[in-house]
Amino acid sequence: MSTIDFDLVELFLEELKLCKVRAGETVAVLTAGDEWAHYAQALMKAASRLGARTFNANVQRNQDLRAAVQGRHPFSDQPLLLETLKQCDMVIDLVGLLFSREQLDMQKAGVRILRIMEPVNVLRAMFPTRELAQRVERGRSLLMGARHMHITSRHGTDIHYELGQYPVMSEYGYTDEPGRWDNFPSGFVFTQANDGAVNGRVVLRHGDILAAFKRYLQSEVVLTIENGYVTKIEGQGMDADLIRTYMDSFHDPRAYAVSHIGWGLNDAARWYQFESTRNLHNEHVMNALSFYGNVLFSLGPNVELGGDNDTACHLDIPLRGCSLTLDGVEIVRDGDVVHPDMRVERAVNPPALS
Ligand code: FE2
Repeated sequence: MSTIDFDLVELFLEELKLCKVRAGETVAVLTAGDEWAHYAQALMKAASRLGARTFNANVQRNQDLRAAVQGRHPFSDQPLLLETLKQCDMVIDLVGLLFSREQLDMQKAGVRILRIMEPVNVLRAMFPTRELAQRVERGRSLLMGARHMHITSRHGTDIHYELGQYPVMSEYGYTDEPGRWDNFPSGFVFTQANDGAVNGRVVLRHGDILAAFKRYLQSEVVLTIENGYVTKIEGQGMDADLIRTYMDSFHDPRAYAVSHIGWGLNDAARWYQFESTRNLHNEHVMNALSFYGNVLFSLGPNVELGGDNDTACHLDIPLRGCSLTLDGVEIVRDGDVVHPDMRVERAVNPPALS
């Protein structure tokens, strides 16, 4: 039994207020094994301070689940529990249900879902603000109206996405509407191209990030994309080998599909704070996915956006130094957000919570 960390309780109290947790609601906290037990205790304390009923649903950790495999989780074989969770107002996910059918079922039932899988220093440094949420939501509305995205870089990236078939998702770090899923912390917006409608090439360079491996690329990799699929992976260095070997290991042609696409807007996230860790349950990826001005390119599943590709192979690859336009309107230029509605003039961290 873990003891309660009252600094954490205060931090989660502020987060749950942003999530509009109120008296009479039911908030479930999901854990597996003894992972994140101290978060679970602090979250339940914070929820009960707001007058909510709260409980911790704990299952055994599945030792067979591999890192960097998406949509498979230890709650998938718990139908009775999932029925209960669908009746909650909010579920806090300390396990990782993303890209699973079970998560989608809960969202359809109107449950607010918040995923937390970052260490406390990252939670504090990237703590969400309403100002961030407004800029992210502005990005979402622009993306919803767009039909064509073009991404280029000075190093040869040149890729076109046709848009409109799939919804647009925003992540700003809290979940304040029925059925909304979010990640605490975060700060980006994304959608998915129409089926088969991505063509061009992406030149990955040193400093771009392979989030699945918690690794900065060191060498150039050129991905050729035809009709929504990667058809060629070229590069002399180890990174091309890593990507090829990882994707091949799934023996699944759908692994090569282009997945979500968008850009980062959190000026408190740091490209350089992405850190390698051997603790696979401490994700340390939200800095990488959210940093201001990154173009978040990805490969693999699209069930999160309502598609039918549920491949377990997923690569998030935040790109630096790219330019992105929507129907010819400049959003990001050379890795800097230039659209006035989303731009932050001063690059300062928000004050840390005490
Ligand atoms: Fe992703």
